[in-house]
Amino acid sequence: MKHYLIVGASGSVGSLVASKLAAQGAFVHALTSKPERAGQVEGNIRWIYADLKSGQGVADAFARVQRAFIFAPPGYVPQDEIISPLIREAVRNKLEKVVLLTALGANAVDTAPLRVAELELERSGLAYNIVRPNWFMQNFNTFWIQGINEHNKILLPTGKAKGSFIDVRDIADVVVRLISTDDLNNQAFDITGSQSLDHDEVAELLSKVAGRKVSYQEIPPEVLKQGFLAAGLPEDYADFLLLILGFFAQGYSAHTTNSVKDLLGRDPIAFGQYAEDYKRAWL
Ligand SMILES: NC(=O)c1ccc[n+]([C@@H]2O[C@H](COP(=O)([O-])OP(=O)(O)OC[C@H]3O[C@@H](n4cnc5c(N)ncnc54)[C@H](OP(=O)(O)O)[C@@H]3O)[C@@H](O)[C@H]2O)c1
Repeated sequence: MKHYLIVGASGSVGSLVASKLAAQGAFVHALTSKPERAGQVEGNIRWIYADLKSGQGVADAFARVQRAFIFAPPGYVPQDEIISPLIREAVRNKLEKVVLLTALGANAVDTAPLRVAELELERSGLAYNIVRPNWFMQNFNTFWIQGINEHNKILLPTGKAKGSFIDVRDIADVVVRLISTDDLNNQAFDITGSQSLDHDEVAELLSKVAGRKVSYQEIPPEVLKQGFLAAGLPEDYADFLLLILGFFAQGYSAHTTNSVKDLLGRDPIAFGQYAEDYKRAWL
């Protein structure tokens, strides 16, 4: 039985990766920063404590696994400082393969923290894949939900720009495909949905399932920043999110790729399907 380490196993992508691998009969070492969860066993998933920020528990987490899915949890700007120790432990433990999740556009500048991490993995000698997803559809039922449910508005500083949003269920399927096989080793995949939508079009699709009019309203970045700070985000991470939303506004999130279809043999989940599947969030 293969043993997989899954970072962020309680999170949106990691939880799906963990449950899908477990359903395939693998043993999952599910990493959590919550010490009270450590040691709990659910079928062939066992929770293991490590704090990626302090590094506590990281070495132990890699001790009994052959493959690992890693990423820097949201909230940390120097992502390379989180990811680098994970790559070093993977090398030290001679892992068979590592799959790293970054983000679409992460490879635009070699000095950007996520690209630094990608380059370290590429040069590590490990078998690897890098998965670079576009903005998640699921942001509309999490990060942006307050504006939608309290004001019937998607409130973002993204103008009329389009995004080829991707469903986290597609991301998880891609990760499972890559981490459990070796035929596509040492490649990076930019993954997107198949449609490119602006936020007026997103609002229309959400309106259909919510049964009320939801609209998009452009807001100044500074207003969104105040919202991020009020929600408790660290200021450097709020600034990072505004920076990448600025890239969205400039059109860098609009293109589509065929990676999901090429890797999974099926089309990516359409935004309308996502909206239908998650409609309880906006009712
Ligand atoms: N949202 C988007 O549109 C988007 C687009 C492209 C890329 N991404 C990237 O995709 C990745 C996955 O995002 P996601 O939405 O799946 O994340 P998520 O749902 O917020 O999950 C983050 C996970 O990280 C764990 N975590 C947080 N702090 C930790 C720490 N100090 N040590 C160990 N674990 C910690 C949490 O688990 P515990 O609470 O159990 O510790 C949680 O399961 C992130 O790198 C994100 O930046 C996101």
